[in-house]
Amino acid sequence: MARVFSAIKPTGDVHLGNYLGALRNWVEAQRPGESVYSVVDLHAFTTSPDAGEIGERTMNVAAILFAIGLDPDASVVFVQSHVPEHSQLTWLMECTASFGELSRMTQFKDRTARADGGFISAGIFTYPALMAADILLYDTDEVPVGDDQRQHVEITRDIAERFNTRYGEVFVIPRAVTPAAGARIMDLQNPTAKMSKSEQSDAGFVGLLDPPDAIVKRFKRAVTDSDNEVRHDREAKPGVSNLLEILAAATGQTIASVADEYERYGDLKTATAEAVVELLRPIQERHAELMADPGELHRLLAHGAGLARERAGATLERAMRAVGFTPPGA
Ligand code: TRP
Repeated sequence: MARVFSAIKPTGDVHLGNYLGALRNWVEAQRPGESVYSVVDLHAFTTSPDAGEIGERTMNVAAILFAIGLDPDASVVFVQSHVPEHSQLTWLMECTASFGELSRMTQFKDRTARADGGFISAGIFTYPALMAADILLYDTDEVPVGDDQRQHVEITRDIAERFNTRYGEVFVIPRAVTPAAGARIMDLQNPTAKMSKSEQSDAGFVGLLDPPDAIVKRFKRAVTDSDNEVRHDREAKPGVSNLLEILAAATGQTIASVADEYERYGDLKTATAEAVVELLRPIQERHAELMADPGELHRLLAHGAGLARERAGATLERAMRAVGFTPPGA
């Protein structure tokens, strides 16, 4: 069986696209001893958040992960900053990556191009080294990620291979996987763009924790087209196709069968909104319970951090010894 690692940054609001496209697959992929999932708060720090913001967002996202069904007995679920080995291995990764390859990363180039003279933390530049540490600490075989993160998994492979060549077989070489079942949910107002948590154009966005009436409103106003034919065709009919895909993903039906069922856009929108409200209802209930009981949430995360540290500590030590750093007290 393959060991799986994935992670989510506690920035922006978790939305329906995150859930149907990625997080739901994390739950599917849970296998005791093989699935590790993290809320990567250190990565979120690259955006210079206000004091107090990160911890709050981290707890909220962690509660979402348990609410969607990540099971602390089946998966290791932890907060990145609770496992200091991530920061420690990052330095070794930074020294193994080259300045040139980090400079060529698309995410880094995009961010610097958009910065327009504004502040860019060096963490944006070294971000892939921290991500490589995340992945390599758990002897990961598979990293489920969206297309935008594939390049980061590629550089992780390059760094790991270079390290292994220099110092011996320390790291397992991971690969990026895109789950076949992952739906690609688009913005409801701009259905050719992915629903995105940083560009919350609000009207096109469905948050996982949005109240039912807000969800219904968003779907009512979803952009369609003017030919009044319910048919799946992403190119010609992106809005209608997105609704069909959401409805299919939310109900577990095929796109073809939901497309057959509706003739009018209004009915399709109503049905999709209702399906999403029902899909999210139990998640929202469990999330509210956990947020009302921070002691329990902290306990779950401490349990996850303990398990993560056992594995991460062993890997870090292997790497340090392979390099030949003199061990403390030995
Ligand atoms: N960079 C990822 C994102 O922005 C988050 C992430 C950090 C991640 N570390 C990871 C994803 C390790 C997969 C594996 O979505």
